[in-house]
Amino acid sequence: MDILIINGPNLNLLGKREPGIYGDSSFESYLNKLIEEYPGLRFEYYQSNHEGSIIDKLHQRGFDNCGIVLNAGAYTHTSIAIRDAIAAISAPVIEVHISNVYAREGFRHHSHLSAVCKGVIAGMGFDGYRLAVEHLIQTKK
Ligand code: DQA
Repeated sequence: MDILIINGPNLNLLGKREPGIYGDSSFESYLNKLIEEYPGLRFEYYQSNHEGSIIDKLHQRGFDNCGIVLNAGAYTHTSIAIRDAIAAISAPVIEVHISNVYAREGFRHHSHLSAVCKGVIAGMGFDGYRLAVEHLIQTKK
């Protein structure tokens, strides 16, 4: 099974960005551990700071036999276009947030994406990505 992990804007700065909220390790070092943990899966990692590029990636892989783990960053709270892209594709998408968005500013409490995603994981730190992968594996069987 293929797993596509998409990280949206500012998530290239994980490890440096607001470490009190997002931790002090890079996503790449976490991803290497995840890949080691699931040798039977083929992982693709894509990060972009651009809304249209995230949409293009969803279109590109969204009709393949793959599961998608998406942290759209702040686009979660603003992007109807990403929501429409998720609704358009057939691959299951799990929405992930590293932080507990519900314990933060009010503008982070609404997601345009949740209603068209298979599920949502928030506040579990980087482990949220692994939990999403685990769910995709279990529901694929
Ligand atoms: C985030 C939460 C968003 O509100 C924020 O804009 C991000 C990261 C998270 O992973 O906790 O960039 O998606």
